[in-house]
Amino acid sequence: MSQPKRAPGGFPVVGVVGGGQLARMMQGPAVELGIQLTVLAETDTAAAALVVPSSPVGEHTDLDTVLAFARECDVVTFDHEHVPAHVLEALEDDGVTIHPTRAALHFAQDKLAMRERLSGLGIACPRWARATTAEEVTAFGDEIGWPVIAKTPRGGYDGKGVALAGSADDLADWIARIGEPGPLEGGLLLEEKVDFVRELAVLIARSPSGQAAAWPVVETVQTDGICTEVLAPAPGLDPHLASVATEAGLRIAGELGVTGVLAVEMFEVRGGSGEAAYVVNELAMRPHNSGHWSMDGAVTGQFEQHLRAVLDLPLGDPRPRAPWTVMANVLGGDLPEHEELYSAYRHIMARDPGAKVHVYGKGVRPGRKIGHVNVSATDLGAARERAGHAADYLRGVITE
Ligand SMILES: Nc1ncnc2c1ncn2[C@@H]1O[C@H](COP(=O)(O)OP(=O)(O)OP(=O)(O)O)[C@@H](O)[C@H]1O
Ligand SMILES: [Mg+2]
Repeated sequence: MSQPKRAPGGFPVVGVVGGGQLARMMQGPAVELGIQLTVLAETDTAAAALVVPSSPVGEHTDLDTVLAFARECDVVTFDHEHVPAHVLEALEDDGVTIHPTRAALHFAQDKLAMRERLSGLGIACPRWARATTAEEVTAFGDEIGWPVIAKTPRGGYDGKGVALAGSADDLADWIARIGEPGPLEGGLLLEEKVDFVRELAVLIARSPSGQAAAWPVVETVQTDGICTEVLAPAPGLDPHLASVATEAGLRIAGELGVTGVLAVEMFEVRGGSGEAAYVVNELAMRPHNSGHWSMDGAVTGQFEQHLRAVLDLPLGDPRPRAPWTVMANVLGGDLPEHEELYSAYRHIMARDPGAKVHVYGKGVRPGRKIGHVNVSATDLGAARERAGHAADYLRGVITE
């Protein structure tokens, strides 16, 4: 396995398990700070492997591979939540410093565990239940009203592993798989279908010493279960809701002992007397799509902040640099794989010198996140139009 070359000056090596776009986007700030990144990548053409010189290829599920990788690092962090618990445990037993820790990560890996823990803390969640049989699904739906949302507790992303069920029959395939080793082993998570006003996200960074910093609460827009746009800060957000949602995020980070960046996905709802309120959807313990705006729109972006946090350095200022920053995701459209994206740059950059384009070096596939565009402005509508235009042009759905 290739080893990271240590730079002179006592700078640490941060290892990232997983070579996706999140690991890739840590490389920019790592270079600026002189911190050495090394990535355990899925393939030698993974998004991060293309930009991080030390990117050994290996399976994140294979204990020996991950251990050998981790022993070369001062601290290990993650691009995704899929490293198995037994691997995390072995790393900690071996004396490897990992952030977030296995104990914290458990609540981002398993949505049933997350629901139990947050409910125990009195944090507002959708009504939920664990179901292991069709009868339990039916009982839950009959009690809270159909349709209900069903989720695989583990392994979901981008809306995969989330289903809308009008009856237990809709979940027959999943129910049949309960008990098999896999994402349904502990049963299904059932939730009421929340009639939300919009989706919000609270992004927090917390260091092992307990320092925490919160970015402004943002609005996230999902299309077909995938985040397509983020508005920072969330427009027209009730100030009381902004403050209680941020407090909830900070409390979750503290109580769960999260280290690094924590994203708390929330639904904005109307409370009993019509007031704006939140319920928590799910947690991610790593830099998150809802924080990509901060790369250009905040004094400290989430990737730099994640590095600072996992190294237990003092955190950077999370305040916004502009009244509004809009992030538009670039999803692979109907373009053929390996489509030439670069040719779009001439038009995008000429049209809008203020648009900040980020591309992940990934092959184009429908629905796949291949990049994003950030635009900061004093006018929200203008920022949305400009970011959306650049993203649409890049993915080939508009030609002028
Ligand atoms: N209880 C619910 N009520 C209404 N809509 C929901 C509920 N749970 C999830 N959704 C919708 O489905 C989307 C995906 O759900 P969730 O965030 O749990 O899945 P995921 O696949 O883990 O997501 P991610 O894309 O964040 O990895 C949410 O953003 C929301 O739009
Ligand atoms: Mg989600």
